[in-house]
Amino acid sequence: MRKNIVAGNWKMNKNLQEGIALAKELNEILAADKPNCDVVICTPFIHLASVTPLVDANLIGVGAENCADKVSGAYTGEVSAEMVASTGAKYVILGHSERRAYYHETPEILKEKVKLALANGLTPIFCIGEVLEEREAGKQNEVVYAQLAGSLYDLSAEDFSKIILAYEPVWAIGTGKTATAEQAQEIHAYIRSTIADKYGKEVAENTSILYGGSCKPSNAKELFANKDVDGGLIGGAALKAADFKGIIDAFK
Ligand code: PGA
Repeated sequence: MRKNIVAGNWKMNKNLQEGIALAKELNEILAADKPNCDVVICTPFIHLASVTPLVDANLIGVGAENCADKVSGAYTGEVSAEMVASTGAKYVILGHSERRAYYHETPEILKEKVKLALANGLTPIFCIGEVLEEREAGKQNEVVYAQLAGSLYDLSAEDFSKIILAYEPVWAIGTGKTATAEQAQEIHAYIRSTIADKYGKEVAENTSILYGGSCKPSNAKELFANKDVDGGLIGGAALKAADFKGIIDAFK
C-alpha cells in the first residue's frame, strides 16, 4: 500500500545554525510523539551533511531541494545527485514550480535529473501543477499530464514506482490560497488515473501523491482526508517545528 508522507521544503530559508536547530527540535518532538506517516525534510544543499546524522532516520528522512542534470565535471556551482546521496540524504525534490519558473527547468532537463536521482538511490519528490491562468481556462489536467509525460512516462514501471508525486497548484504556493479539498481530490484522482493508464492499476494505487500549496495545521486534515491525497509538501509551515508537527498530526 502507498505511504502517507508529510515532506517539508525549506526553500532558501534558515542559515546552517538555524537549520540544525530546527532539525533537532523536530527530531525531539517526533521522538516524544511518534508520527503516523513518513516525515521528510528537504533542506538547502549545505545543510544536508550536518542535518542527516542529527536526525533519527526512523523518524525523519532528509532530502535536497534540487540536483544537477549532469553526472559530474565542469558545471560550476552545481551539486550532483551523487553528492546529495553521499551526505546520507535519501530524497530530492525535482521540478518544483519555482525551479521551472525562475531557473527555466524544462521537462527534458527534469527527465535527466530524475534519471540521475534514481541512479544514485535517491527518491525523487516530483512536483507538477498548473498556474492560475491555466486553472481558469480549465486546462489543469492537460498541464499536469504534459508534465508527467514529459519527464516521467519514459521510465520503466519499476523506476516509476520509486517516485513520489507532489501536486502543487502554482496559484496556491505561498499565497495563503489553498485548493479546496474537492479541487485537490479531483485532480489527484485524475493524476492517479493517468498513471493507471500508463503503468497499470497496481502501480497507480501504490504511488503516493502529495498536495502542496499553503497547507497548514488548520487545513491539512481536510485535505489529507481525501482518498487520493496521500500527504503534503509543505513550504512556509515547515519552517516552524510546531506548525510542521501540526500538519503531521493530521494523520492521527
Ligand atoms: P507553501 O509552499 O506551503 O509555502 O505554499 C509549498 C511548496 O512550494 O512546496
